Amino acid sequence: MIYPLPAVLVSCGDASGLRNLLTVAWTGTVCTDPPMCYVSIRRERHSYDIIRRTGEFVINLTTEELARATDWCGVRSGRDCDKFAEMGLTPGRGAVVAAPTVEEAPISIECRVRQVLPLGSHDMFLAEVVNVQADERYLDAGGRLDFERARPLVYSHGEYFGLGGAIGRFGWSVRKKPQAPRGERVVEPARAAASEQGRDAAPQTSGARTARTARTAGPKPGRAAAPKRAGGRGAKSSKRR
Ligand SMILES: Cc1cc2nc3c(=O)[nH]c(=O)nc-3n(C[C@H](O)[C@H](O)[C@H](O)COP(=O)(O)O)c2cc1C
Repeated sequence: MIYPLPAVLVSCGDASGLRNLLTVAWTGTVCTDPPMCYVSIRRERHSYDIIRRTGEFVINLTTEELARATDWCGVRSGRDCDKFAEMGLTPGRGAVVAAPTVEEAPISIECRVRQVLPLGSHDMFLAEVVNVQADERYLDAGGRLDFERARPLVYSHGEYFGLGGAIGRFGWSVRKKPQAPRGERVVEPARAAASEQGRDAAPQTSGARTARTARTAGPKPGRAAAPKRAGGRGAKSSKRR
């Protein structure tokens, strides 16, 4: 129905060491203040019972690097295996919830369930965000997730994608265009940068997507290249809500 979606790794568990992961695409933000998210989960999932009992879970955002683990955790059940161990993922400590985080995720959103809505095939867990952990390696100077470094994973109609380049900033569609002196052509910065390099600098995932991106997007002017990936994990800063 509504695509593309994030494919997130939802972790759950308790203080006794019980832990599990499942992949979820039916997820989203539903309120700013208080910050609230949801995940919709089928009752037959192993994770369903854990989340129902503990009333807690963590939404771990995924990256292209985590694509294989994301798919795998969505086709195997925690009834049969320890998905953290099988995928080589590191369970981290929640600052507020007892459910583990995924250390490799750029952002881990700790959630406490406020309501469970039985909808039909899925139950919707409406939850308050009680803490956010962010890996500083993936943040820009303004504290936002830097897509060039994190390379978020997107799910659409059964396939996984990376993101193309930026197309515009919030509100750009109504912003006044700069007036060019008579006879001069206005070259938008993004286009100028792309044509300077003689190519579309946006990351490429498939021919069709690239062709579309090439007309509209290019690298952000003045944006630093993504640093080389460090071997170790970065520190996760914690923002409590
Ligand atoms: C990309 C993707 C998205 C998924 N989205 C959901 C979802 O939104 N809700 C759900 O209940 N299951 C979803 N699943 C299926 C579960 O992740 C899968 O059944 C998983 O094996 C359940 O694990 P568990 O039994 O250990 O809880 C998705 C699977 C994939 C691969």
